[in-house]
Amino acid sequence: MRVHVADHPLISHKLTTLRDVTTDSPTFRRLVEELVTLLAYEATRDVAVETVEVTTPVTSTTGTRLASPKPIVVPILRAGLGMLDGMSRLLPTAEVGFLGMLRDEETLQPRTYANRLPDDLSGRQCFVLDPMLATGGTLAMAVDYLHGKGARTVTAICLLAAPEGLEALERAVAPDVDLSVVLAGLDERLDERGYIVPGLGDAGDRLYG
Ligand code: PRP
Repeated sequence: MRVHVADHPLISHKLTTLRDVTTDSPTFRRLVEELVTLLAYEATRDVAVETVEVTTPVTSTTGTRLASPKPIVVPILRAGLGMLDGMSRLLPTAEVGFLGMLRDEETLQPRTYANRLPDDLSGRQCFVLDPMLATGGTLAMAVDYLHGKGARTVTAICLLAAPEGLEALERAVAPDVDLSVVLAGLDERLDERGYIVPGLGDAGDRLYG
C-alpha cells in the first residue's frame, strides 16, 4: 500500500479552512470540491493511457488519451458524494459507481446499505472517494467489495486519515490489490469516539447535515 500526503500550500490553505468550526456548509462543500480536484491531479498520475495519432491544424503528431476500459470512480455515500463533482471535473469520462456505507457510532463497525457497481471490475482502475479514513474499517470493506468484483488497482482519495486507520487498512487489504491512498492531510490520532484528531468533525454532517 502506498500513501501519498499532498504537499502543496493551496491544499494546506483549503484544508485549514475546512477544519475551522466556523466554516459554513456552502463554503465547506465548495472547498471539498476544490481540494478533490487538486488531489485528483496527484491520484491520477499513474492512470492508464495509450498513444494516439492526432491531427492538429498544422500537422499530425502523436498524443495520449485515457486507455480502455475506462476508470471507475466510486464515492462512498454519504460524505463521498461531496467529492464527486471535484473528481469528475478532472476525469469527466470515467464511469461512476456508488457504495452506501454507514459506520455504527457505538461499535465503529461499518455496514453497506447500498451499492450500484458493474458486476465485473477486472482490469478497471478504481478511484474511491471518502473524505475521512478514521479506523479504516469503511475503506477496508469498500476495497474488499471491489476486490470481490475483480478490481486489482484501487486508489483511495481522502481528505484526512488517522495513522491507526492506515495501519488497519494495510493489514486488511488482500495482498493482490495494488492500493494507493492519496491524502490532503495525515492527522495525529483517533479519539475515544473514533473521530480523527484534530480532524474537521463529521464530514457528512458538515456537507449535508
Ligand atoms: C464517515 C466517513 C467514512 C467513515 C470513516 O462516514 O465519511 O465513510 O465514517 O470511518 P472509519 O474509517 O472509522 O470506518 P459515516 O459512516 O459517518 O457516514 P456518512 O458519510 O453517511 O456521514
